[in-house]
Amino acid sequence: MAMLTRRNLLSGAAVASAYGLGFGLSGPLGKAFASADPVLIEAATTEASLSPAGLTRGVMTYRSGAPAESPMPPTIRMRRSERFAARMINRLDEPTTIHWHGLRIENAMDGVPFLTQPYVYTGDSFDYAFTPPDAGTFWYHPHCNTLTQIGRGMTGVLIVEDPADPQFDAEITLNLRDWRLGGDGQFIEQFKARDAAKSGTFGTLRTANWQVEPTYDAPAGGLVRVRMVVSDVTRLYNLRLEGADALVAALDGQPLPSPQPLDMVTISPGQRLDLVVRMPDGEGTLARLVDVRPSTPKTVTSFRAIGASLKRALGDVPPLSANPPVEFDLNSAQEIPLVLSATAEQAAVDSICGTLGYSFWAINKKPWPGDTADPSAPMAELKLGRTYLLNLENVTPHAHPIHLHGMNFVPVSSSTREVTQLPSDTYLVLPDEKVQLAVVADNPGDWVFHCHIIEHQKTGMTSYLRVV
Ligand code: C2O
Ligand code: CU
Repeated sequence: MAMLTRRNLLSGAAVASAYGLGFGLSGPLGKAFASADPVLIEAATTEASLSPAGLTRGVMTYRSGAPAESPMPPTIRMRRSERFAARMINRLDEPTTIHWHGLRIENAMDGVPFLTQPYVYTGDSFDYAFTPPDAGTFWYHPHCNTLTQIGRGMTGVLIVEDPADPQFDAEITLNLRDWRLGGDGQFIEQFKARDAAKSGTFGTLRTANWQVEPTYDAPAGGLVRVRMVVSDVTRLYNLRLEGADALVAALDGQPLPSPQPLDMVTISPGQRLDLVVRMPDGEGTLARLVDVRPSTPKTVTSFRAIGASLKRALGDVPPLSANPPVEFDLNSAQEIPLVLSATAEQAAVDSICGTLGYSFWAINKKPWPGDTADPSAPMAELKLGRTYLLNLENVTPHAHPIHLHGMNFVPVSSSTREVTQLPSDTYLVLPDEKVQLAVVADNPGDWVFHCHIIEHQKTGMTSYLRVV
């Protein structure tokens, strides 16, 4: 059901500007940056029109003070190498925090309760301030009671701009996720234990930017930068574009040295994909972004060509400006074996930020339940400045998007496929895959390392590395 309504069209143009936060107008028409005063981010509950059944109650979100224009958390924009500051006020009736997924910032700003900061209780606030070293597409979300808080909507896109980035004719930001709603449009139980022990529990309603198959307008024959975040707790996407050509410009916020033609790209929870889409020439012509992973392909969103063709060519775009590389030294690298497995210890283990009541998964045979690992015992201690090889081995029949906080790694070898040696913070470890991730321990502190299928994270597949 493609809903081509005035509301969709308007919000399409407005995604970057009206919902932008912090640094003013940042839509396709230009860029303006205000002062670096702290932005206000309130964690709050709201109602949202997600399904045709009517308003969904108990949606959780972030808003920026002013009356919310959208139930969707605002897209936060900041600039590489410039200080950013935000005050988060908790208006939920439970503790929360913000984790800035993919940003290599100081440990105290990482948002992991009791490992890097205290809980932010109801009515309290926490001041975040940092300088992002990398430009690209990232996101932000809580690191507390995450299956509920992320599952009910607390996922926002975070864009770090670089003044040297090439200009496009338009930019569209897509926050891809599902919702678990019943026929009455209200939330149903967030997970089923039997699914948590497999690939995770799927939502019942797919959305892009909180809308079902929205359509966005963009200049005909123009070049559009499409920034995508998979913020769903479970779903992997196999994305294709029908009706237009596109280049993959960046993965997980990191620019490809030379953009590659898009055929099909798999992105999993936590990951980001930046495309350059060359819009069709004919006014009104649609290009469709399609998820071909399910047996019946699903339209994620459509782009509609507007106006006379700008007649651009995909080759007109220079690559995005590079981020600092990961300078690893394989000769001196120390190996850290990390075996991802199931566990037979199915008992509930109490943990910080709530438990799902089960342990299904383990790293190195140990189940680590919760949003935060046991703060007393890192999985490994790394020496500041040294190179390590994280030797991941997935002995389960399920894929695990493994995410590391605070540092980027570079995949250097895999037993099952060719790896792109691009820095990243999230690697989708396939069933039976062995992969080596090179990381330089260049950021001191305790850094969580977990599966981004949130049920897996919450039922055993979370630990952390200590850098000293
Ligand atoms: Cu996107 Cu530990 O998280
Ligand atoms: Cu997993």
